[in-house]
Amino acid sequence: METTLKLNGQTAIVTGSSSGLGEAIALELASAGANVVVNYHSGDDEAEAVVKRIEERGGRAIAVGADVGEEADVKQMFAKCIAAFGYVDIPVNNSGIQRDKAFHEMSLDEWNQVINTNLTGQFLCAREAVNIFLKQGMRGVSKALGKIICISSVHDVIPWAGHVNYAASKGGVMMLMKSLAQELAPKKIRVNSISPGAIQTPINKEAWGTDEALNKLLELIPYGRIGQPEDVAKQALWLASDESDYVTGATHYIDGGMTLYPGFADNG
Ligand code: BGC
Repeated sequence: METTLKLNGQTAIVTGSSSGLGEAIALELASAGANVVVNYHSGDDEAEAVVKRIEERGGRAIAVGADVGEEADVKQMFAKCIAAFGYVDIPVNNSGIQRDKAFHEMSLDEWNQVINTNLTGQFLCAREAVNIFLKQGMRGVSKALGKIICISSVHDVIPWAGHVNYAASKGGVMMLMKSLAQELAPKKIRVNSISPGAIQTPINKEAWGTDEALNKLLELIPYGRIGQPEDVAKQALWLASDESDYVTGATHYIDGGMTLYPGFADNG
């Protein structure tokens, strides 16, 4: 059977792709033939470097600055995408931040910042994308009208003390994704989440930066290694492609078993 793990003629917008998971996802989708908008908030040099790597490999990409929590920014990012590539097919809502704090010391600002980027940002990008999909119509490049990929976290199901703003935002992403998937399936728009566990990126350097921290982290990962950005990027490519055409409303845990309650393996 011939694989359809190809995205030629399609365009992806990967939010927060100047580093970390977003960067790996942008490179992976580009290597499958997609045009890519490399969105960044503060890392413009890093975003340009990602664009350059895509171009060096024969792909097409542009860097676009936007704060995904700001409606006007999101609208101009999608407009720039259309101006450069003509269409939007695969929004990957990846931007995410942590502002960790003991609950009783958490400021309203620390709460709002995380909810705004991690949850409201996904709402704004998905809404913009859906309006564009409906306007574009079927274009003969995919079986679906559009594919929305929400980057969530294992903390959409694993409670996380000291990070209630983050866990609440990701729990929200889960129901945003499922409700959207239910609403949009009749329109042939697929919506899915990827929920990564511990992946070696700048956001969680504290958890793997020393041998001691890494060994402690590995106790939570039955598969015995920390994840790499490519582990997540490969799943994003599959979800963006027609290989997953019957998949919508699903959460894909890419976590080496972190959500399997490893503490119960010889206890309970
Ligand atoms: C967080 C990381 C954390 C991982 C597993 C991710 O969503 O951003 O900081 O290491 O979940 O706990």
